[in-house]
Amino acid sequence: MKKDGQLWGGRFTEKPDATFAEFNDSFRFDKRLFFADVRGCIAHANGLRRAAVISEAEGSSIVEGLTRLRDTAVSNSAYFDNSGSEDVHSFIEGKLIDLIGDTGRKLHTGRSRNDQVATAFRLWLRDEIDGISDRLLEAQKSLIVLAERHRDGVLPGYTHLQRAQPVMFAHWCLAYFEMLRRDRERLADVRKRVNVMPLGSAALAGTSYPIDREAVAAELGFESVSANSLDAVSDRDFAVEFAAACSLIMAHLSRLAEDLIIYCSTEFGFVTLSDTVSSGSSLMPQKKNPDALELLRGKSGRVFGHTIGLLTMIKGLPLAYNKDMQEDKEAVFDCVDTVDISLRAAAIVLDNTRLNEDRTLNAATKGYLNATELADYLVKKGVPFRTGHETVGKAVLYAIAQGKELHELSVEELKEFSLEIGDDVSDALSLKATLGAKSAIGGTSPDRVAEALEQAKKYLNG
Ligand code: ARG
Repeated sequence: MKKDGQLWGGRFTEKPDATFAEFNDSFRFDKRLFFADVRGCIAHANGLRRAAVISEAEGSSIVEGLTRLRDTAVSNSAYFDNSGSEDVHSFIEGKLIDLIGDTGRKLHTGRSRNDQVATAFRLWLRDEIDGISDRLLEAQKSLIVLAERHRDGVLPGYTHLQRAQPVMFAHWCLAYFEMLRRDRERLADVRKRVNVMPLGSAALAGTSYPIDREAVAAELGFESVSANSLDAVSDRDFAVEFAAACSLIMAHLSRLAEDLIIYCSTEFGFVTLSDTVSSGSSLMPQKKNPDALELLRGKSGRVFGHTIGLLTMIKGLPLAYNKDMQEDKEAVFDCVDTVDISLRAAAIVLDNTRLNEDRTLNAATKGYLNATELADYLVKKGVPFRTGHETVGKAVLYAIAQGKELHELSVEELKEFSLEIGDDVSDALSLKATLGAKSAIGGTSPDRVAEALEQAKKYLNG
């Protein structure tokens, strides 16, 4: 006995149990693939027509019918409500048959939902990857705008969250720019493997009809067709890869968020977020909290979870298709939604972030951030670095006892630590010299950073 619009049921004598149907059905979430699946259906119908499996007239009727379904879905926001369909594929086929009659019953010739769903999912994901790639670019742009707003800003750089060496603020912005650049490259790479067409693999063994798969692929903009039908219907490694690429995006956003959360604390006071991207407390009237940043950090976990969830889902599956694979969709959908809103949120927070330049400058010149400079000064005078390191360590210890910075000690006091120290030492210890010395490729010298900013802007302009 068949449920209305069901794609199977000839060999069944009973209707599905309601709880089983609720458990089994995927329409409530896979309706999201509607437009992609309609595209796949149209290309398949054209493939059948070209192979003369269906007549020209039947082909036209099916394609026109599918086009009308698509147009109706665009104009009618309640189109998907109360359908009771098992999945998006049965929904489309049922609607088509309702619309054009028995000819619609020919659409599924030579294909299975197994190759159909893999095709629709890949088509859908390909577009979403392009969307996320654009979002990444927007976030990168916000980083560069922020860097330029504080072109001369200087920040203490940290290791172990202890003050280490001063860096240009733009250098910090560009560090995240680079992470997001790699994220875009990764997505572009994943896209290559997403952009392979499974259609024509049918249930598992390949279609029995003389369909020109390459022509169908060309119509759908796929780069190539899958080489093995068993693999094509049962592989979801593209979904795992995509989730992994999303995980790295979230990891990067989470680190960015963590930096800014620390920097906007009263203790640091390096940055101020505008009210438009901050929240208050229901109890403490004075509070202004960086909730957006905390959510960027917090939301990373669910995306990481989807990666491991997908891996776990596929690891024990015997070839070929298994229903376990229906679980791929909600995971990937949530990766897309989470990464999309996170990137938009990151961009808007960056647009509303101000560097408190006086405070960061002050912090960058306190805490012996130029100690390495003094060691390098000694190296220039012929002292082996290891010896210089030890000498400067002693000088730092002395300075701490005096409650002074290295550059606040007199040349005479410094000379006590090494005979190589001369009157030129003060210049060597200045912030300008400290930053300027980092002039190798990738370093934080103002010239290098200006160069990197120019390159970044070129990248942004395509
Ligand atoms: N809804 C299924 C999925 O997402 C597609 C249908 C394939 N089902 C089947 N029984 N062969 O994977």
